[in-house]
Amino acid sequence: MGSAKIYYDSDADLAVLDGKTIVFLGFGNQGAAQAQNLRDTGFPNERIIIANRPDSYAEDAKSKGFNVEHDFAKAAEVADVVFLLIPDQVQPRVFNETFAPRLKDNAAICVASGYNVFFKLLKFKPSQDVVMVAPRMIGSSVRSLYQKGKGFPCFVSAEQDGTGNALKVALALSRGIGATKLGAIASSVYEETAMDLMAEQALWPNIIMLFREAFSVLKEAGCSDEALCYEMWMSKEPAEIFEAAADEGFVTQLKHHSTVSQYGQLSGALKLDGTAAREHFKNILYNQILNGKFTKEFSQIENDLEKEGLDNPLNQLYQKAEEMELAQAEKRVRSRLADLLKQ
Ligand code: NAI
Repeated sequence: MGSAKIYYDSDADLAVLDGKTIVFLGFGNQGAAQAQNLRDTGFPNERIIIANRPDSYAEDAKSKGFNVEHDFAKAAEVADVVFLLIPDQVQPRVFNETFAPRLKDNAAICVASGYNVFFKLLKFKPSQDVVMVAPRMIGSSVRSLYQKGKGFPCFVSAEQDGTGNALKVALALSRGIGATKLGAIASSVYEETAMDLMAEQALWPNIIMLFREAFSVLKEAGCSDEALCYEMWMSKEPAEIFEAAADEGFVTQLKHHSTVSQYGQLSGALKLDGTAAREHFKNILYNQILNGKFTKEFSQIENDLEKEGLDNPLNQLYQKAEEMELAQAEKRVRSRLADLLKQ
């Protein structure tokens, strides 16, 4: 695969959505942002339904003037398009049990993440359209960038073309929520899932490990907790480096650093043999992500994630992570800082 196709506003025909009823299942981070953007693009409010259980999100939707339906079966019956914007781990149960059985045969289902579609955890009829419109931004930015008249990066794809119109629907929805303004990148649930889970399960775990070990070696070499925490992340230098990488270029941003730093970073990186890391990444990608091993493991603990305290496996992991030397040191530094600020 080389370059991807990029879709702009001019590639999308909003008329494809004329007369349709659009249901947002979920009014959280993405749901609230996308529904408001769609309405501000000119899609009639009376044709938008927010399907939401009675909770604070439903209240938020009502306060913003949306029609809220608590009965998911009723919302499903009238939906021509459903934006699936509840958390990924609850989508299979909620969608398959309460939505799917009542949905029209020619309805379009739009996901904002590839995971459940790629792993075939959602039940669709072959006659339905399944599309992905996946903003690469948190919901608040999807909304604020739209309000500023700017676009945001987004992946788009047609995964199942039941009506023969799936891509047109995907592009119209993308334009409706403001995603084709900057250019929506043609992608797929495969690509989105592989990249997302690879970053989460291989790249960032390695970065956490590298920080943990570098911290430990420098501490052994006599560096103080304060100096280390500030040097390594509390100064926000890593955040600034990544911002400059996004704005100017992954390699080009190095020019902002001292000559000693530039020489050290480039000669060090080019000397490192990536073979072991490459093998590790391939192993995670093929033997943990794409073969469904992680998904199986995650589905087994999913229900326990609602539990309190150490019965919740995520809390157990947090407890272990807090035991890292780096985390313990940071706690001490932050509490000393808080004492100082109080004085
Ligand atoms: P969220 O966590 O903000 O979802 C909250 C919404 O889900 C509320 O409307 C709530 O009432 C509903 N909800 C929660 N649990 C429920 C349950 N058990 N039954 C029924 N409704 C329930 O979700 P978020 O973060 O907006 O994610 C939605 C989708 O967007 C996911 O597929 C996610 O991967 C994707 N996405 C999220 C991004 C983000 O910024 N958080 C970025 C890009 C994509």
